[in-house]
Amino acid sequence: MAITQLPPLSLYIHVPWCVQKCPYCDFNSHQVKQNIPESEYIDRLLQDLESEIPLVWGRQLISIFIGGGTPSLFQPESYERLFSGIRALLPFNADIEITMEANPNSVESEKFKGFYDAGINRISIGVQSFQNDFLKSLGRVHNSDEAKKAFAIARNAGFNNINLDLMYALPNQSIEQALEDLQTAIDLQPEHLSWYQLTLEPNTLFYQQPPLLPDDDHIAEMASQGIQLLSKSGYQQYEISAYSRNGLKPSQHNLNYWNFGDYLGIGAGAHQKITRADEQTITRTSKRRHPKDYLNQQMDLIDNNKAIAMNELPLEFMMNALRLKEGFHPDLFFAHTGLLLGQIDPALKHAESLGLLEISKENIRASEQGYQFLNELLECFMPENLPKNLQVGDIKIKNLMENN
Ligand SMILES: C[S@@+](CC[C@H](N)C(=O)[O-])C[C@H]1O[C@@H](n2cnc3c(N)ncnc32)[C@H](O)[C@@H]1O
Ligand code: SF4
Repeated sequence: MAITQLPPLSLYIHVPWCVQKCPYCDFNSHQVKQNIPESEYIDRLLQDLESEIPLVWGRQLISIFIGGGTPSLFQPESYERLFSGIRALLPFNADIEITMEANPNSVESEKFKGFYDAGINRISIGVQSFQNDFLKSLGRVHNSDEAKKAFAIARNAGFNNINLDLMYALPNQSIEQALEDLQTAIDLQPEHLSWYQLTLEPNTLFYQQPPLLPDDDHIAEMASQGIQLLSKSGYQQYEISAYSRNGLKPSQHNLNYWNFGDYLGIGAGAHQKITRADEQTITRTSKRRHPKDYLNQQMDLIDNNKAIAMNELPLEFMMNALRLKEGFHPDLFFAHTGLLLGQIDPALKHAESLGLLEISKENIRASEQGYQFLNELLECFMPENLPKNLQVGDIKIKNLMENN
């Protein structure tokens, strides 16, 4: 392994509170019972970031993503304070993308202008569906009109980069109803759409008491017709669930994840992945998950910290990069893992021989079949299916450079 350069750096910020817990949601979010300790939480986020700075000296941020939970519950002034604190610790790239997830109920959309003025330049609105019956069965606290209004408010506030989150394969949903939701979203002309298949996640109400979901054939047909509708409307699929209008504004933050870039993660339960050239390591860290623990000054902010083993790096890289329709440039593998592509050649050839992977000088990507059966493709890169030299420690840097 020879890490000779560092990948781009992003920052993820987690806000762990919601008005109400949705029955399908497995994110680290907690129903607000009393007042949110907003100011205390901003202080703790800045403390958290400060403690991570030695890991990223001299680097600048290409993107920030504030996710949740419901980050739009906070006041714009809190983000102003947070951003000036972050700027004092880390330089921002001139084109930095700063996204915030927002829920479209009226109390929150009133704050959109304030969020824009605070420096947020991309907003991701959690619409889920434009049909009130589905919104009700999903336990959402907003209705369809509020969602449309929230979009208009975001536009008027100045946002020229808006994402809408929609889900499909909802309880008792027909193909026509799923397409109707997509068409309503397309008519609004957001720059980006995220179209997720509803999944039943353990630790959710829907998992314990499963609603009646469409069968697999219907879901496959829904996905296929939906992708066609999006494509003919100018929305290019660049990742499993991500569509960018005319391919112009894909999410820079998510692209950095999928290209196996680096990210700091601050906030309750946040995850980070950081490459260290001085130590020749790529480390994953997670923060205390429960807001009470995260805010507890007597407790360490870090819950878990572990360097990724060398024989796990290929799978970790592929799990991200092969989600992208275009896959990755062959040079990116060495640049972001420190391993030579030649070291996993048998696995690449095997995946290619199964018809799951396409390899050319310009890029390596999942074939149509591989994209459909991504788990099968990823299996080729499991540690036990890799050459033994990846399993017995280091290879001399000199040899690596000669082979490169
Ligand atoms: C962090 S979540 C929620 C952001 C925001 N609080 C909201 O609900 O609008 C981001 C997105 O993940 C999607 N999502 C959440 N749970 C899901 C599930 N079980 N299956 C599929 N998509 C899900 C939803 O579209 C949601 O907007
Ligand atoms: S889906 Fe969004 S609003 Fe609902 S509980 Fe999860 S994070 Fe909160």
